[in-house]
Amino acid sequence: MKLATDTHARSVLDTIGHTPLVDVSSLLGEIETAEGVRLYAKLESANPTGSVKDRIALAMLLDARERGALQPGQTVIEPTSGNTGIALAMICGLLGYPMRAVMPANATPERVKMLQTYGAEVIPSPAELGSNGGVRMAQALVAEDPSLFMPMQYENPANPQAHYDGTAVELLDQTDGIIHTFVAGLGTGGTLTGVGRRLREHDAHVKIVAAEPMPGDPIMGLRSLEEGYTPPVLDETLLDRRIIVNNINSVHATRALAKAGVFAGVSAGAALHVAMRVAKDAPAGANIVFLVADSGWKYLSSGLWDRDLDDLEVHMESGHWW
Ligand SMILES: Cc1ncc(COP(=O)(O)O)c(C=O)c1O
Repeated sequence: MKLATDTHARSVLDTIGHTPLVDVSSLLGEIETAEGVRLYAKLESANPTGSVKDRIALAMLLDARERGALQPGQTVIEPTSGNTGIALAMICGLLGYPMRAVMPANATPERVKMLQTYGAEVIPSPAELGSNGGVRMAQALVAEDPSLFMPMQYENPANPQAHYDGTAVELLDQTDGIIHTFVAGLGTGGTLTGVGRRLREHDAHVKIVAAEPMPGDPIMGLRSLEEGYTPPVLDETLLDRRIIVNNINSVHATRALAKAGVFAGVSAGAALHVAMRVAKDAPAGANIVFLVADSGWKYLSSGLWDRDLDDLEVHMESGHWW
């Protein structure tokens, strides 16, 4: 039966984006700030697969389809440590493209299950080679079988464009165009580049700040530019600052964020930690916006929520907090 009004029955794809911006200024109670500084969280966790990557997965597939780079029924392959693969798997399922995700064998079981649930085939790459090993394996598979289509989020201009056309426009609307600083984690750099470019066009004085992990101290979804790879989609000239954050501080902040009602992944904690540091020096009345890239569900098995922080410090010595 067709429902009487389209407004109540949209495709899941139409619910990508249009995410809430919430006031979490209560978190500023822990620090000294100038009068009227406000802190806002952009909840990308509200997207259908639970992360910001729904935006770019849809944009990359629609762009490739339009350019003719992606033909009906063609198989999509992507090296991923989680969110982008999950988003591609859901959307490929709806648009009719088989999907293969190349993922390090030590990825959390929630990720593998979600990919499989959406219908993707998961190809494990050697855990010890990390995400770069996954990229090399996916590239080798494409070289062997050119019928595969690889969106490659690190190089695809449709990635930052999705944020320029979507995330940034929503933020300007939700803040009446008044943003002092925008903070996001740096992964592919798509969010910082797309949002940063649009906000800067609107206001030349806006500050764009990257939350970057300490080299060798992994935060899921983020990467350090110091480790030798600068993603082609990142426009570094848009960044006013890159603030380094370690895992312990990110975990602390992720827990504080949960107490403020936002159940998020660790990269959101990294962005919050950086936003707090920015807030300390911000002028009176500044609006500081940070991006919550995903929700906390996929991290449950990693022990993020149930280890005490002394334990985490011990685990940090091995380069991991879990
Ligand atoms: C959890 C998480 N946070 C942050 C990011 C970074 O976003 P971007 O790739 O737009 O830099 C990603 C993806 O790379 C991610 O998966």
